[in-house]
Amino acid sequence: MLSELLLTEMARLGQQDNMPLHRQLYEAMRRAILDGKLAAGDRLPSSRELTQDLSLSRNTVVAALNQLTVEGYLSSRVGSGTYVHENIPRAQPRQRVTLSTRRQADLSKRGTALATTFCATQLEIQPFTPGVADFSAFPVALWQRLQNKHWRMTYPDMLDYSYSGGYAPLRRAVADYLRVFRSVPLDVDQVIITSGTQQSLELCAQLLADHNDTVWMEDPAYWGAVKAFLATGLQLHAVPVDQHGMAPSARDKAHAPRLIYTTPSHQYPTGAVMSLVRRKQILDIARAHNAWILEDDYDSEFRFSGPPLSSLAGLDQDERVLYMGSFSKVLYPGLKLGYLVVPKRLVAGFKQAHYDLNRPGQMPLQAALAEFIEMGHFASSLRRARQSYAQRRHCLLEALQPCLGEQAHISGAEQGLHLCVRLPENVDDIALTNRITEQGLTVRALSAYCLQRKDAKGLVIGYGYAPMADIEKYGPRLAQTLSRALA
Ligand SMILES: Cc1ncc(COP(=O)(O)O)c(C=O)c1O
Repeated sequence: MLSELLLTEMARLGQQDNMPLHRQLYEAMRRAILDGKLAAGDRLPSSRELTQDLSLSRNTVVAALNQLTVEGYLSSRVGSGTYVHENIPRAQPRQRVTLSTRRQADLSKRGTALATTFCATQLEIQPFTPGVADFSAFPVALWQRLQNKHWRMTYPDMLDYSYSGGYAPLRRAVADYLRVFRSVPLDVDQVIITSGTQQSLELCAQLLADHNDTVWMEDPAYWGAVKAFLATGLQLHAVPVDQHGMAPSARDKAHAPRLIYTTPSHQYPTGAVMSLVRRKQILDIARAHNAWILEDDYDSEFRFSGPPLSSLAGLDQDERVLYMGSFSKVLYPGLKLGYLVVPKRLVAGFKQAHYDLNRPGQMPLQAALAEFIEMGHFASSLRRARQSYAQRRHCLLEALQPCLGEQAHISGAEQGLHLCVRLPENVDDIALTNRITEQGLTVRALSAYCLQRKDAKGLVIGYGYAPMADIEKYGPRLAQTLSRALA
């Protein structure tokens, strides 16, 4: 019986490696598939049946099945269940990519840099992985109904590329949301629907800067932005971040920026919130250098304490800020939809170039999302997610705070899906991260995000993905490992 096989293997893994349950189940199934005990094409019991047979929570089962599906071990057929994939991958994905010398020789210098540095997305998704939302809560059935409806209603135009910056009702819905919740003054015309922040950044870099122009980056920095700018041949200039956000000094002003990339609402990864004084300073610097500011407002939807903050775009008096947001954190990352708000004088150029470079499309999907927002489902999903993340965050803080003492402190817990434990400079945060990974948990070392500075040490810990039960269970374990490192 499959359940007996899985339970035996899970018991062994639990004793041997002290792994969390969803990881044990994932590993037990993976081994059963690779050993041929589950053959290609075999149908698996439903997640409900597995939940019952294995006496596990549904979250645990769904997390394991999702991971196996993402990695290609399983595939789902609508209406008929989950099957072992016909072509089982032999190598385990989601490990850091180490390219062979031959492969690197094939790539250009830029290609090698892109493929070998800051490989952010290769980490395993398990409790505490930062930057990942709980997309298991996404209302799949409702979404399916909306998508079906818009596919049924689709007329030929909707199957074409999108010429005008995206589906008009979606651009309207985004504009309404941003005006009210982010104080961004804008006309609908200024909103361009993109395939997420990554594409918004690429467009900005391609259209606003030339090869070798300088882009100011926060240090530590968001890997996705680093990649977008490296790919477009820009020079990165690292500006350190302090507790008030990006903190330029006289030394930095000598490196005239063409672009300034910033995450002012919740700096990624430190979580610093940019003060009003700093916001004005950044706007002044941009004005003095005739530079553009790229404001990445990636998780501003989840603010737990402190007053709501106006966006930089809301303070901008002379149309220098390009504002970008994404549905990746709020709905689900694979949706691949986001938005870019450009100053009026850039609208025509951006729409034309976006069309020529990217041939955007997905109109029925955009129509489903527009209706999802108009009908209030977006607002209610946000409300539910905010509540649930607030509880998870609280629980994680309760576990971590007692072990920090005088030497460490938490930053960035007022907002978003992650917080940062700042550690003394002499702590090896990478070794600490590796020890935590051995326990079946994923956190990231703050130093791994640093471009130049050597002093920023810490752990970037996510509470979005892990269900409450996992945070209750593994939070104390994480805290214990942390106290040992601080002792
Ligand atoms: C700082 C930051 N910006 C933006 C995003 C979202 O990017 P995308 O819309 O390309 O998924 C992320 C995702 O992890 C992020 O961490």
